[in-house]
Amino acid sequence: MAAERMQWLSLALAASLATLLSASASQPGIGFGYYKETCPAAEQIVFRETTRIVRASPDLAASLLRLHYHDCFVQGCDASVLLDSTDGTPAEKDAKPNESLRGFDAVARVKDKLEKACPATVSCADLLALMARDAVVLSKGPSWPVALGRRDGRTSSADNCGELPPLYGNITVMIEVFAAKGLDVKDLAVLSAAHTLGKAHCSSFADRLYNGSAPSTDPTLERRYADRLRMRCPGPGDSSAAMSEMDAGSCSTFDTSYYRQVARGRGLLRSDAGLMEHPVTGAYVRRAAAGKYEGHFFQDFRDSMAKMGAIGVLTGNQGEIRTKCNLVN
Ligand code: HEM
Repeated sequence: MAAERMQWLSLALAASLATLLSASASQPGIGFGYYKETCPAAEQIVFRETTRIVRASPDLAASLLRLHYHDCFVQGCDASVLLDSTDGTPAEKDAKPNESLRGFDAVARVKDKLEKACPATVSCADLLALMARDAVVLSKGPSWPVALGRRDGRTSSADNCGELPPLYGNITVMIEVFAAKGLDVKDLAVLSAAHTLGKAHCSSFADRLYNGSAPSTDPTLERRYADRLRMRCPGPGDSSAAMSEMDAGSCSTFDTSYYRQVARGRGLLRSDAGLMEHPVTGAYVRRAAAGKYEGHFFQDFRDSMAKMGAIGVLTGNQGEIRTKCNLVN
């Protein structure tokens, strides 16, 4: 309880600092202290509920962070990832890359609490941004003030999910996909470290262990690590629910251990390993892996999350404030 209070206090402190810094934050259209008059308890409610959710299901911390990222990369941070498919139009959440997203019920639960406290006021897009931040805090990562005021989109189409980085893309492709969202090479190095949390299915990394059905190890993958992975991922067609930690041994703590793994050839996904193939991302990984860099990384992560959280936001009279995150009003 004391720890929870301390965490909340540090969030509150960050929020008041942000308010002092003024409501005209660096991101266009969104700002700090946005719900100060209309729903002053919003952030506290979100943090309290997210804490309960993550305590009950620790794996969800990673899933909540990923939800915000998948929201922002497709049609901007407008909570379109949360909308249900309608007749004849599959929504984002039913697209292939989103099949493994989790945490929708958790978001709905917090939204219900917000609706009780302040009806039709806090957007689902802002809720995703807040829950992602709180999930990182609850995983012992950094806190940061979240600029708010995003509004919710009214459409969602599976067809748009090509905007997400492709699973097997090389570093050049990743850089291009990030650039298309206004994120630079450093943001790629920094945000990839979100993989310090969470797990991946065999289907997400089998290409690095097999060529067709024959075992064949990606040369950038450390051999012993690859052998261990093959035990969890017995074939390229394996569709079991078994998952592997992306930051082996530290997948529920937000820290720089991800970079140590990547530097040793233990980056689980193609995109993780690819960071070593570019001078800027490679240098970032090596520096963070060498230790004594956590403070810089935490600051960088805050900055890059703020940039990501501002992609394509709807503000003012655009969109709406959904009362149920999975349905347009
Ligand atoms: C650089 C390009 C990226 C690619 C190709 C990528 C791809 C993936 C894949 C394939 C998974 C595993 C899905 C599964 O098998 O269940 C995953 C998990 C995850 N990703 Fe990424 N990702 C990228 C960037 C990011 C970014 C920018 C963030 C957040 C800021 C992020 C956060 C996460 C988290 C937290 C998980 C674990 C989810 C869980 O355990 O439920 N990823 N990612």
